[in-house]
Amino acid sequence: MLVITSAQQLGEQLQAWRRQGQSIALVPTMGNLHAGHLRLVEVAQQQANKLVVSIFVNPLQFVPGTDFEDYPRTLQQDSEKLERLGVDVVFCPDVNTIYPGGMETATKVIVPGLSDVLCGKFRPGHFEGVTTVVTKLFNLVQPDVAIFGEKDYQQLVIIRRMVKDLCFPIRIVGVGTERETNGLAMSSRNQYLSEQELGIAALLHSTLVSMVEQVKEITGKADFIAGDIHLIEQQAMHELESHGFQPEYIKVCYADDLSEVTTERRNMRALGAAWLGKARLIDNLEIK
Ligand code: PAF
Repeated sequence: MLVITSAQQLGEQLQAWRRQGQSIALVPTMGNLHAGHLRLVEVAQQQANKLVVSIFVNPLQFVPGTDFEDYPRTLQQDSEKLERLGVDVVFCPDVNTIYPGGMETATKVIVPGLSDVLCGKFRPGHFEGVTTVVTKLFNLVQPDVAIFGEKDYQQLVIIRRMVKDLCFPIRIVGVGTERETNGLAMSSRNQYLSEQELGIAALLHSTLVSMVEQVKEITGKADFIAGDIHLIEQQAMHELESHGFQPEYIKVCYADDLSEVTTERRNMRALGAAWLGKARLIDNLEIK
């Protein structure tokens, strides 16, 4: 496995593969890899002959004053895990490689609307940072396919839209969330949880599970109204608050464009974000 930090060396390797007619997959990450990331790697390996995993803790997507400095950086352990899985290249650029002219005046990629709802409302500028860095990674790697986790469901919807709008010739594959045995979605930020918080963190998941059941029941009725869904959302917020969470939002949206539910019957998604102590937890579930 090659560990590459320079864009030029990456370009040379990619060119050699393309000359051989190899297809290329990209798994973008911020490192501190857990079983969820390793699942993305396995899926990526089924999609192309060669695999690049990028590791870059992207400062542009951290809201100022949050956990950019504290975000766990574990490059050595990450490389060992990726090597064991047979990854071809780990690309771990520094900030100057990604933002050569600095971040302030860097060209940005913005997906309006989708980036402003749900998490976007509470983390202004976050998705602009994500779409900007993912665009750069797409241009540097020019993969045939890129893999993203469904745990960050809003991110996945935004990236699909960006790829469509900017005509990137890249196939986007979403991969289901890996969970702990109690249902807690795996996340690098779970390590901010105390022992006691870890004991209740899975309540975000179980609350969404119960919402999905309730939404299925009411949308199955002929006379369902969107107001009933708002009641379910409010009950879920209260349930979480009563256990010490500070929820930012708990919402049911249409799955494809994250729009507000009306009486139309389309696939939906239950999504939530809530603080528990120092950890901001997110999760989501499909409602078919
Ligand atoms: O999902 C993540 O880890 C990040 O948002 C991504 C896609 C690697 C961009 O920095």
